[in-house]
Amino acid sequence: MNENLRIAVVGATGVVGGEVLSALLDRDFPAENLTLLASERSAGEDVEYGEETLGVEKVTPDAFRGMGLVLLATPPEVSRQLAQVAQAAGAWVVDVSSAFRADGNVPLVLPGFNSEVLGASFKGRIVALPSAVTTALVTVLEPLRQAFGVAQVQVTALMGASAGGQQGLRELEQQTAALLSGREPESHVFPQRVGFNLVPQVSAFMANSPWTEEEGGWTLEAARLFAPKGEVPVVAGTAVLVPTFFGHGLSLHVRLRKPAPVDQARAALKGSPALKVLDSPGEKVYPMPSLITADPTIHVGRLRSFPQAPEWLTLFAVVDNAGRGAAINLVEAGLRLAERPA
Ligand SMILES: NC(=O)c1ccc[n+]([C@@H]2O[C@H](COP(=O)([O-])OP(=O)(O)OC[C@H]3O[C@@H](n4cnc5c(N)ncnc54)[C@H](OP(=O)(O)O)[C@@H]3O)[C@@H](O)[C@H]2O)c1
Repeated sequence: MNENLRIAVVGATGVVGGEVLSALLDRDFPAENLTLLASERSAGEDVEYGEETLGVEKVTPDAFRGMGLVLLATPPEVSRQLAQVAQAAGAWVVDVSSAFRADGNVPLVLPGFNSEVLGASFKGRIVALPSAVTTALVTVLEPLRQAFGVAQVQVTALMGASAGGQQGLRELEQQTAALLSGREPESHVFPQRVGFNLVPQVSAFMANSPWTEEEGGWTLEAARLFAPKGEVPVVAGTAVLVPTFFGHGLSLHVRLRKPAPVDQARAALKGSPALKVLDSPGEKVYPMPSLITADPTIHVGRLRSFPQAPEWLTLFAVVDNAGRGAAINLVEAGLRLAERPA
């Protein structure tokens, strides 16, 4: 790592921003080269970084001067604006929001899947990352695609309240406390009460569409990521908000291009360093959000098929949405970009 590299983390007070700091600390990134930025709401707050305490500053147009790398962990409308400012200041920019995921002029990169893009030439200095669900989906599908081909995927994503950031976490906490003490819960962040409930709507619905932006994102991002590999599986599914805090679970039905015995599919998944196979159901071993915190791998298990449709494989996966699904991708992609010549 270039020891003169200066990094600005924008959104440092958020769910993803906090995980970005953990990932940088894990890599011994020096505190003195870090600038923590957020909105004026949290300017002046202190954030722990290992033994150090770092102050959070309000982001301004001048804040990116001298930065080699800007990591954006901000809402899409904020990222859209700040990415251009940071790029104009000469920094490499990685954005974890949905702002640029559909933009054909901005590379969509999942470290460990298409990292080669980070070393190739492209227009501009901005790189987008896929969503946490797409990260899990693509990481699970790739070894299956290589071994058997993948034609189609149906997914139900069970998404914890951290999908709604700090406010989402607070909302679930408050609703749970209210319901347990007989008070009426209030909903501000999510479209319906999530406490003791399941809500089949994460994000807004796309214009004139029955699909939400979250769901539409999986189809589009998987298509962008798989297209260069010459095989684009049809991906469709339902995003459901569930009353857990961290970790997203994915129930997957995968139609392979040729029948795959379950033990062969399991062997293919075990070959991926990005996955941890937890698949001993008789011993109650399978992926669960309670096991995923701070684990950079994606957990996969409950592999099944049935004789009447041997090309279909059913499985369950869990990703640490804020860590592996966002912050670790930000840091890995950013540090790789920062190694490029200016
Ligand atoms: N949560 C996940 O699992 C996840 C996974 C993948 C991608 N993402 C994406 O990551 C981004 C951040 O999500 P999050 O869950 O971390 O949200 P969050 O907890 O709400 O944090 C948002 C961060 O953005 C900052 N911010 C908001 N408006 C700003 C502005 N105008 N200028 C500067 N900073 C501003 C906030 O600062 P203040 O403290 O000042 O408000 C806060 O630090 C979103 O685009 C989200 O879609 C999230």
